[in-house]
Amino acid sequence: MTKIVILTGAGISAESGLGTFRDEDGLWAQHRIEDVATPEGFARNPALVQAFYNARRAQAAEARPNPAHVALARLEAEHEGEVLVITQNVDGLHEAAGSRNVLHMHGQLDRALCHACGHRWPAPDEMRIEDACPDCGRCQTRPDVVWFGEIPYGMDRIDPALVEADIFAAIGTSGNVYPAAAYGQHARRMGAHTVELNLEVSTASRDFAEHRRGPASEVVPLWVEEILKG
Ligand code: APR
Repeated sequence: MTKIVILTGAGISAESGLGTFRDEDGLWAQHRIEDVATPEGFARNPALVQAFYNARRAQAAEARPNPAHVALARLEAEHEGEVLVITQNVDGLHEAAGSRNVLHMHGQLDRALCHACGHRWPAPDEMRIEDACPDCGRCQTRPDVVWFGEIPYGMDRIDPALVEADIFAAIGTSGNVYPAAAYGQHARRMGAHTVELNLEVSTASRDFAEHRRGPASEVVPLWVEEILKG
């Protein structure tokens, strides 16, 4: 039974109306990373950081899964072997489509995290810095997303999954942010067949044995169909 590990990035949610980061009109063209996506930015101006993620949370709540998310959920349901989705996305569209085995390595917009004690709880629609932590009572509520300079979640599960993978696919990610950017290279060295499904050539493209170019909503369902047919 083949084990399939899939890494997803912002490109898979683009056709659900959620902006990517590094495309021409992406989030990082409109906001400075150091202001809204670092612990230092949060220390300097927590209200600005909360406003940025409150807006993203509201957008994500309106978004619906597209055929690429749906195809990955179908793959998990119908493939006779493990399917793990490792996502860099903080939206909940994989789960909304029906995927169950999802690892959010960069956290989730719908979770709150206490920057002081590490306690986590479901995020309110509007997060405010004066919201007290339900556990320690201090007021350092932040979105439960992994910022630049922080260690991604689930590394203990990801490493063995890459070693054991028979197929590793990366979908809609530009290959600029580590450690995820190195997963194709790592999985390939460990013996997996590697395939990249992306709109365009990415920084990590050379690490993949196979490439499918096009919008995720088109190329992912076709790829899933092929895998399920064997
Ligand atoms: N279908 C497939 N691919 C697409 C589509 C689409 N419809 N639209 C865009 N893409 C591709 C782009 O060509 C690009 O290669 O998706 C990729 C998106 O890249 P980024 O914006 O860099 O997003 P991502 O790789 O997920 O970023 C990684 O960076 O800022 C951090 O934490 C943030 O998780 C994020 C990480």
